[in-house]
Amino acid sequence: MMHEYKEIKEVLLTEEQIRARVNEMGRAITERYRDKKEVVLIGILKGSVLFMADLARQIDMPVTFDFMAVSSYGKSTTSSGVVRILKDLDSSVEGKHVIIVEDIIDSGHTLNYIRDNLEGRGAESVSIVTLFNKPNRRKAEMEVDLVGFTLPDAFVVGYGLDFAEKYRNLPYLAVLHEDAYSV
Ligand code: IMP
Ligand code: MG
Repeated sequence: MMHEYKEIKEVLLTEEQIRARVNEMGRAITERYRDKKEVVLIGILKGSVLFMADLARQIDMPVTFDFMAVSSYGKSTTSSGVVRILKDLDSSVEGKHVIIVEDIIDSGHTLNYIRDNLEGRGAESVSIVTLFNKPNRRKAEMEVDLVGFTLPDAFVVGYGLDFAEKYRNLPYLAVLHEDAYSV
């Protein structure tokens, strides 16, 4: 039996399309980091959980996991890039090669903050891997090392991404009908 989501307007990327790209990304990371010691994947909660789980299984070398949860202070302060740490890392990143694993980059404020923060803790290198990217919405300059898919400006849900905490468990990426956002 399959649950029918009436509020889903369109599937932008199927489960198979996402899987194929995530597999390529895992291979690319393996090649880039093969000769590096102490590589840590840092997942940004909660959106990156599905991506991290699938990506990590396609990385063919030893890596460790850590997680961070952050939140913007609110609408008025997001543009200044003020970010609050809700859950910090369990372990030190000093001397380690850090790969930040993110679900989607929109304005770029969140990741700019996280990257600066981790570089300030003495990481040997910090790179950013995101499954989805909305470059047209960028407010903060940033270099992204590996992007899965470039998206148009629409708000998307699924494969970890939520609207009001819902839809994270969809195996595909979708857009909702306009009236779904007003409930
Ligand atoms: P940024 O600081 O504006 O780049 O915010 C990135 C964060 O906003 C992501 O980690 C997501 O949690 C959230 N976000 C941005 N765009 C979307 C979207 O289309 N759907 C769901 N969440 C999004
Ligand atoms: Mg998020």
